[in-house]
Amino acid sequence: MKQVFMFLATLIVVFQQSSSSRVLELSDKFADVRKDGGHWLVMFYAPWCGHCKRLEPVWAHVAQSLYKTNIRVGRIDCTRFTSITSEFKVSGFPTIKFIKGEDEYTFHGDRTKDDILNFAKRMSGPPVQELTRADSMNSIKTAHQLFFMYVGSQDGPLWNVYHGVATRLQAHGFFYSASTDIAKQHVDIDELPAVFVYKESLHYFYSVDSGNSVADAKDLNDTMYNWINEERFETFPKITRGNINDIMQTKKYLVLVVVEENKLREIPAEMIEFRDMVESVIRKKRDKFHKNFQFGWIASPELANSIAMTVLPLPYLLVLNSTTNHHHIPEDDPAQLTAAAVDLFLERIYNQSVTTYGGNSYTVQLYRYYFEARSSLAEMWRGNPVLTTVLFGLPFGFLSLILYSICCSDILDADEEEDEDSHEKRE
Ligand SMILES: *[C@@H]1O[C@H](CO)[C@@H](O)[C@H](O)[C@H]1NC(C)=O
Ligand SMILES: *[C@@H]1O[C@H](CO)[C@@H](O)[C@H](O)[C@H]1NC(C)=O
Ligand SMILES: *[C@@H]1O[C@H](CO)[C@@H](O)[C@H](O)[C@H]1NC(C)=O
Repeated sequence: MKQVFMFLATLIVVFQQSSSSRVLELSDKFADVRKDGGHWLVMFYAPWCGHCKRLEPVWAHVAQSLYKTNIRVGRIDCTRFTSITSEFKVSGFPTIKFIKGEDEYTFHGDRTKDDILNFAKRMSGPPVQELTRADSMNSIKTAHQLFFMYVGSQDGPLWNVYHGVATRLQAHGFFYSASTDIAKQHVDIDELPAVFVYKESLHYFYSVDSGNSVADAKDLNDTMYNWINEERFETFPKITRGNINDIMQTKKYLVLVVVEENKLREIPAEMIEFRDMVESVIRKKRDKFHKNFQFGWIASPELANSIAMTVLPLPYLLVLNSTTNHHHIPEDDPAQLTAAAVDLFLERIYNQSVTTYGGNSYTVQLYRYYFEARSSLAEMWRGNPVLTTVLFGLPFGFLSLILYSICCSDILDADEEEDEDSHEKRE
């Protein structure tokens, strides 16, 4: 529904020509060009799509930053080269893909310059990058908030499984390996080989279960995958429309603090206080909650409103079940909550003794569409009432005329058929 509004809105906006000089304009010949190998970062777009327009300046910066690397940055107008859309299985605009030879990987993060650049950097290297110098550890710690590290010799079941999982999740995280000598200069390691995640200046180790028999290989594969999937987000990230689907892949409960950011990215003091209070729960009780709850904060209330399907007061606390899409809200006024009350609320969610709302049922989905359409319309109205009236006044006028004529002709047709039927019966 939102796309339709965007479409109508862009019709009126005069198309701006951006200076995307470093961006290569590709055609359907790209389907052959890719086969020559090389690394491509490609944006599949449609000229009428509002999200594509907004991505354009970011894309120009990305192309500028990658100009001196071996990654070529391009874009394809999918309305002109429709065969490309099916060849690359593009189902929405814009779609960003990293393409190397026959392989392609779709970007699922936030469409910011940094996130896109990190994605391209991850995909252009091998799934596991090896550290060869002791000081490299410091440079990757400054470059990345979060990464995974294997320590030990590159053979045996742990290495094979780590490498396999890194290959599957290459688009989602940074994976490194280091020799024992290099790693021991930075972190204490009890048992070798080892795997740890580095996040927010701390190291958390993957614990290998005792008894590494051959029968456990599949087990190891699954537990490693689950552990990396559980750990691949920061403790308290900012959650947006861009990354929420990826975060839901953790299959945890999402504990969402809803606040409002203004255009200068400022948040009112009382909302910051509330956010800090909830953050303190996961910081102090990581062991208790980490496995089943992913905490985070949302700065755009519209996203939270569309999850809850109502306009929430701010600040607010919302817990989303990522497998069923149900959500839970505290019974008391969230602004009055204390850390102890949040703790209790989460315990009760975990033992399923709280009320559930929403979900994925047909009626809820229908209501969700209705709610989203209504809020988009309300937003447009607040932004520009005159424009909204013109946009929706005219088409709705036409639409009612069209609908009226369709309905009428239907009734007429039906009448005729009935007549014919009765004739036949009479004959
Ligand atoms: C681990 O599991 C995945 C999916 O279940 C499978 O594709 C992969 O081959 C497995 N890897 C190993 C090393 O067993
Ligand atoms: C979500 O709800 C289902 C069904 O009630 C439950 O089995 C599951 O444990 C809940 N939590 C998560 C994180 O999926
Ligand atoms: C759920 O957890 C709460 C808080 O720990 C506890 O008071 C309640 O008795 C539990 N309910 C069930 C059904 O286990």
